[in-house]
Amino acid sequence: MSGRQDTVLACEDDARAAVVDACLRMNALGINQGKAGNVSLRWDRGAAEGMLVTPSALAYERMDGDDIVWMALAAGEGMPAIDGLHPPSSEWRIHRDLYLARPQAGAVVHAHPPFATTLACSARGQAGGIPAFHYMVAVAGGDDIRCAPYATFGTQELSAGALAALQGRRACLLASHGMLAFGASLEAALALAVEVEALARMYWQALQLGDPVILDDAQMLRVLERFEAYGER
Ligand code: 13P
Repeated sequence: MSGRQDTVLACEDDARAAVVDACLRMNALGINQGKAGNVSLRWDRGAAEGMLVTPSALAYERMDGDDIVWMALAAGEGMPAIDGLHPPSSEWRIHRDLYLARPQAGAVVHAHPPFATTLACSARGQAGGIPAFHYMVAVAGGDDIRCAPYATFGTQELSAGALAALQGRRACLLASHGMLAFGASLEAALALAVEVEALARMYWQALQLGDPVILDDAQMLRVLERFEAYGER
């Protein structure tokens, strides 16, 4: 068994509890509401690569560790082997595909945050995502935060679009839907989701005053370079 957390998760029960806690915090932080969104944590069982993912359509406040579903990280069209009391999140493909494509992903948060989703519902947001109106846009890994094209929730098409929008990034918007963020740990993925929502809000506010000033490539490159060392102890 393994997971990569800031807080060490000693056993699968602790990992399951950490997933539930991340869901509750996601709603308490105001970046999600109701049963929307889903959360997962990379969690291998011995040699079997897998993830712990929230069940579909179960209210977070009624969820406990036993409700979390383990799923094998197997590629292919059909649903991989699962171990759980409920069907996994309808977005299991996004979570599975992200872990398979991005080895550094230890946890994934999908939420419907009000400002990020507002932008993702606008023609401007769908075309340009969140551009470099603020240097902190680099927190997601590049000089913009892209918006994946609209596709029906729970489809392979949505997963493919999301993974393309996440090329070189750790977060993206999902057109007419919400936001996706991943990190090495649940803490990191959640913190990034909160940051992206704050940026979406600031961008939306800046748009009310006219055209936001966009940092150029050289300015963002310098920020990205500084971010590589920033915060290291
Ligand atoms: P699930 O409850 O199936 O995870 O679906 C919620 C959601 O936000 C779909 O995109």
